[in-house]
Amino acid sequence: MHKWERIPHEAARSLARLLPRIEQAFEAAGGNAADWAAFEQRLRREWPRLFELLLGLYGTQYDFFYHLEQLLIAMAQSWRERPQWLKQRDVVREADSEWFQSERMMGGVLYVDRFCGTLNRLREFIPYFNELGLTYLHLMPLFAAPEGNNDGGYAVSSYREVNPQIGTTAELAALAHELDRAGISLVLDFVFNHTSDEHEWARRAQAGDPDYQEFYFLFPDRTMPDAYERTLREIFPTVRRGSFTWRPDMQRWVWTTFNSFQWDLNYANPAVFRAMAAEMLFLANLGVAVLRLDAVPFIWKRMGTNCENQPEAHQIIQAFNAIARIAAPALLFKSEAIVHPDDVLSYISPHECQLSYNPLLMALLWESLATREVKLLAHSLSHRFRLPAGCAWINYLRSHDDIGWTFDDNDARAVGIDPWGHRQFLNAFYTGRFPSSFARGLPFQENPDTGDARVSGTLASLAGLEQALSNGDPTAIETAIRRILLLHSIILSIGGIPLLYLGDEVGTLNDYGYVNDPAKADDSRWVHRPVRNQAAMDQRYDPSTVPGRIFGELVKLIRLRTSLPALRDGAMEVVRSDNRHVLAYVRQTGAQRVLVLTNFSEYPQSIAGNLLRMYGPGVELFDLVSDQPVSANEALVLPPYRFVWLTPVR
Ligand code: GLC
Ligand code: GLC
Repeated sequence: MHKWERIPHEAARSLARLLPRIEQAFEAAGGNAADWAAFEQRLRREWPRLFELLLGLYGTQYDFFYHLEQLLIAMAQSWRERPQWLKQRDVVREADSEWFQSERMMGGVLYVDRFCGTLNRLREFIPYFNELGLTYLHLMPLFAAPEGNNDGGYAVSSYREVNPQIGTTAELAALAHELDRAGISLVLDFVFNHTSDEHEWARRAQAGDPDYQEFYFLFPDRTMPDAYERTLREIFPTVRRGSFTWRPDMQRWVWTTFNSFQWDLNYANPAVFRAMAAEMLFLANLGVAVLRLDAVPFIWKRMGTNCENQPEAHQIIQAFNAIARIAAPALLFKSEAIVHPDDVLSYISPHECQLSYNPLLMALLWESLATREVKLLAHSLSHRFRLPAGCAWINYLRSHDDIGWTFDDNDARAVGIDPWGHRQFLNAFYTGRFPSSFARGLPFQENPDTGDARVSGTLASLAGLEQALSNGDPTAIETAIRRILLLHSIILSIGGIPLLYLGDEVGTLNDYGYVNDPAKADDSRWVHRPVRNQAAMDQRYDPSTVPGRIFGELVKLIRLRTSLPALRDGAMEVVRSDNRHVLAYVRQTGAQRVLVLTNFSEYPQSIAGNLLRMYGPGVELFDLVSDQPVSANEALVLPPYRFVWLTPVR
């Protein structure tokens, strides 16, 4: 029998052996027949795929079959315990699997503790979220974590206990349901590459339990760490050199890609896979609609490589995806891979992560603002924006993390840009070291050996508002507001789910106070994670204020988007503008068509009438943003940093 026959055969035989035992356990635990039937149906559908993935990952382990059985028992139990409202949502979203492609989708992200303190208080802001049209809310890590520095919650000590200062797990589940009733899907992180060194698994490893020591990568001396480090990239070089941490209490080196208190999990161990699958299903049953898969590139290690984007990383995520399809079908994954664009793309598929951050668009929007030219942006988007069917970009302007210049070197060379020099320029520009820069950002993780660095800063400070306000320069303030709105116009129109970092809608500036907190002082990302600025929010309806102008125009654009079916899903075509400062693209769904033109420079720019007639298409066009007719009989002059969303008049 050939391999391609043998695997389906083994899959069927294993399922036949396992099913009666899983069903028995399900019934013994009080499960009802209808629930079992739904589970069995989905299991049969996904099983060949799940089995093959797990066989590939763990088939050589002598106790493979035991792990399979335990995994299925845990999945069935999780399904049995899944709240009724979520089972209803499962049915609805399975029937409408492209729900997230809607032109009504709008994302927001915030830290609960910094935004309002507690989960209970967050409920009071649901009307505010509705004002912004949010349908997706990512709450930054809010689970138990070590005191002091915990990497903004990304060092998780328990995936089942909310940090007591923020609330309780029951409150989180209630909030998820309440958000759902308000039309908002809850997004949480799945920090599955590592746990904190205070997680129970890590504590047991520290206490010498060999089963839990196998959850992590522990080495008695430098032999293996040195061998791995020959090819590893340093992620946080200013915090600690290398990727390993010495634990005197254990007399062991521990693999710690990020901070010393974040211990990488060993996914070559099937017990780790199973344990994390159970944590994932727990989060799903709280009412999470989308899990943001944190640090996906790092989850599989292979000697002699940079231990990023290994084939097994994909297999693990695909196996989690299959498990979700069976036991929590409404759950979607969003990939956090801030790496080369080819690698970013490799995680995106209906069978892996349906959603992904779009770090390339994010970085290149800033690149275009700095250079006032769109050649690298237009060229990169023209061949890198398209996604497989059933998937969507999350388009954002900045996150809680730094901005890194992850464009492709050959894309840069193709448009006459030297990639290394350009990254140096962009870092200098956004940290304000470049003369005449409008931006006020801070360097993040400058690596003295390689010269690499990334950039921290809020949207408004990077776009020039901070400098303009401190110079009291009304023209510069106006220009900065135009830049902020221009960036939003793009993420709202280009295709995918726009994601707003809460605070940016009222022009929140950098918060330099983080340096006074020893737990934050050496991590410049805190400069762009300020607490909620209620004073600015209170000014949001007053168009004579800066927050009022940003908020008012932004909300107008968000509303406009919801009325334009042409802006649904991600089909987008970059078209010629014949002007190096103007980005042009077309969106079309059915009969509706929108041509978006954006001027990235501080000077007026013109677009020839024949291009408008060709791409509009037509002679009589209408700008949906300004509510003005546009005639394609003549050239269109776009004022500084202005954009139009043109549609043909019929
Ligand atoms: C992700 C997070 C980042 C964190 C890292 C380690 O990249 O976005 O904030 O430092 O993972 O968990
Ligand atoms: C991600 C990125 C890295 C970033 C880090 C923390 O894993 O790969 O560039 O700095 O998270 O912010």
